[in-house]
Amino acid sequence: MQTRVLTGITTTGTPHLGNYVGAIRPAVEASKRDDVDAFYFMADYHALIKSDDADRIERSRLEIAATWLAAGLDPQRVTFYRQSDIPEIPELTWFLTCVAAKGMLNRAHAYKAAVDRNTETGEDADAGINAGLYMYPVLMAADILAFDANKVPVGRDQIQHIEMARDLGQRFNHIHGREFFVLPEALIEEQVATLPGLDGRKMSKSYDNTIPLFAGGKKRLRETIMRIVTDSLQPGEPKDPENSAVFTIYRAFATAQETAAFRQNFQGGIGWSNAKDELHKLVEREVAPMRERYEALIADPAGIEIILQEGAVKARAIATPKIAALRDALGLRSSRAVTVAVAQPKVTTKSSKMPRFASFRDVDGSFRFRLFSAEGEELLLSVPFADPKAGGVLQKRIKAAGTDGVVLQVDALRIVLELDGEPVASSTHYHDELTCEAALSQLRQALDQLAAQA
Ligand code: TRP
Repeated sequence: MQTRVLTGITTTGTPHLGNYVGAIRPAVEASKRDDVDAFYFMADYHALIKSDDADRIERSRLEIAATWLAAGLDPQRVTFYRQSDIPEIPELTWFLTCVAAKGMLNRAHAYKAAVDRNTETGEDADAGINAGLYMYPVLMAADILAFDANKVPVGRDQIQHIEMARDLGQRFNHIHGREFFVLPEALIEEQVATLPGLDGRKMSKSYDNTIPLFAGGKKRLRETIMRIVTDSLQPGEPKDPENSAVFTIYRAFATAQETAAFRQNFQGGIGWSNAKDELHKLVEREVAPMRERYEALIADPAGIEIILQEGAVKARAIATPKIAALRDALGLRSSRAVTVAVAQPKVTTKSSKMPRFASFRDVDGSFRFRLFSAEGEELLLSVPFADPKAGGVLQKRIKAAGTDGVVLQVDALRIVLELDGEPVASSTHYHDELTCEAALSQLRQALDQLAAQA
């Protein structure tokens, strides 16, 4: 069975070599594994906490999407989307807010650090702190729990947030008496290199010591590499590879043999400017083909938009039924059922309690429909049709068929409905057998309800 791996990418700033080596490259590699079901998204709601510069947010979202795609992320294979395209995330954030202990949020590192700074300077504890910062961990928990992620690859600074997501998921499960959420685990990559920046400290936007990945093109890459700080040893004098940013960055892009040869050159006294030239050539070897793709992508924002919209459709195929089940558990049900039961027992509720089809136009222009249960849970999504009438005809046939008139196949926790030996609609991938079984019986019930009415 696949492990669902999910991670969010904050959309402030422009990607640099440190992001590439530390996060992008390993994540793209991981997404190619057959045992991984990868979800990567741009955390643009989180970005609003730190920035009110709309242009910058917009630019950063685009740059980051183009960067990840250029680095080889395959949107067919993974689910790649923007947080702000998934309305279920803020909805779940509120549900989780209502089970979150305020005391727990008081202890979140980022908030606590801001309070400590205020206290030190004699300010009011909460001076200048927006509630978005305070709620950051709850929004992040919603990102994760909405998709039942098993593993969340993050840096060490994020471990507390994953623990809070577990805590919130557990509380919700406990209060509402069912395993609504999978409890996520942090995945800390011990192996992944952190690259030194121009001044030898960790490469980071906040130290202003970064080497841009694509920005400014080949020329800027070379110029920036030439600015890496070195000691003042002359050509001919042996140099210590272990204490050199030039060597460390080189190693992150080189094969084992190339690294060994470069180490020898250091010991043999290669001059700094030669060494930097070698480094530039090596980085350029890996970056150049990606830069070409990046430039093509960034020149076509509409193309990126389509990819992200498709990602949102894929992501919502999971989040929408999940949130529907939560709404139901929380008592946020259609009010008619309650009024009818309590006050007007004679009114027939037939129309509101029937399974129903809903047709829509997909991002690629094709037509599809969904089948919802009487309770409003999504059961099936149809294959795409070029002609909306074909979809309508199929809905009629499914209505008339009942459970006996169709074939329901379950394959890898996903239900496929076949008519005349053709798959015509399917469910989402369910997370476990129990949920899949439950969905199957819901579907059978819905088909029979429809057939009885037809
Ligand atoms: N807080 C994460 C960071 O700063 C970004 C993020 C937002 C995230 N939502 C997430 C990471 C969900 C993993 C899962 O890096």
